[in-house]
Amino acid sequence: MNTETHAAMRACIRALSDELRARSASDRALEAFVTGIAEAEAGSDIHPGRSAPDHPAFPSLERALANVPAGWNLGDAVVSAAPRLDWFQVFNSDEIDPRLGRNMISAQLALRRDAGGARTVHAGLFLVGSDTDYPLHTHTAPEVYYCVSGRLTLQHGVEGQPFFLHPGEYSITPSERLHSLKTEDEPVLLVYIWLTGPHLENWWWSQEPDGSWARSQWTWRSDGRWVRLGSEPVDSDAMRRACGVGHR
Ligand SMILES: [Fe+2]
Repeated sequence: MNTETHAAMRACIRALSDELRARSASDRALEAFVTGIAEAEAGSDIHPGRSAPDHPAFPSLERALANVPAGWNLGDAVVSAAPRLDWFQVFNSDEIDPRLGRNMISAQLALRRDAGGARTVHAGLFLVGSDTDYPLHTHTAPEVYYCVSGRLTLQHGVEGQPFFLHPGEYSITPSERLHSLKTEDEPVLLVYIWLTGPHLENWWWSQEPDGSWARSQWTWRSDGRWVRLGSEPVDSDAMRRACGVGHR
């Protein structure tokens, strides 16, 4: 990676860090992410490349970048960095809806492991093309989405009230909280932060024809392919926990 690209990535992390610090004064739930990004600012590994230079989502990325509000440090940093980054397809598996493969790409901004490898901070850009439904899922990592372009619809839990992210707005999804994402007629560009353990795992949840719920565990192999490890039924206690307070 050349030094200009590295500098552009660092500028994004610095701008993100400034925004998170400013907002954490009134939102203590952001503090862990402020700490994580400060660690990433101090030094970051480079993710092994999984480039997808001809990916069909690039026209959506261009549209999203054209819609980033001007005169905003984080937005300006993202617009400057995005064309230089190594973008890759988020979901790469024959078992996952091919529309998700076509519509979602990501690029790393920072990856910082603590000395023991027990905790990792991931930060990057996540492009979700228009008219995309990213279905209900959970992961151990708490997650921040910081919207840079477009309007994202998010839902926590099965019956939670959908809410929206516009540029400059963020969401915090706690560890193991069921959530889904949706876009409408424009692409959405997000900065994501994950605070993970040593592995990246996702559980995808779905309702069976008889009304019961099941979930499938997926993990990300080092070559970028997602692999399904298995499925299990979800009982009502697990469902309540995944939906957080207020699930009926
Ligand atoms: Fe998520």
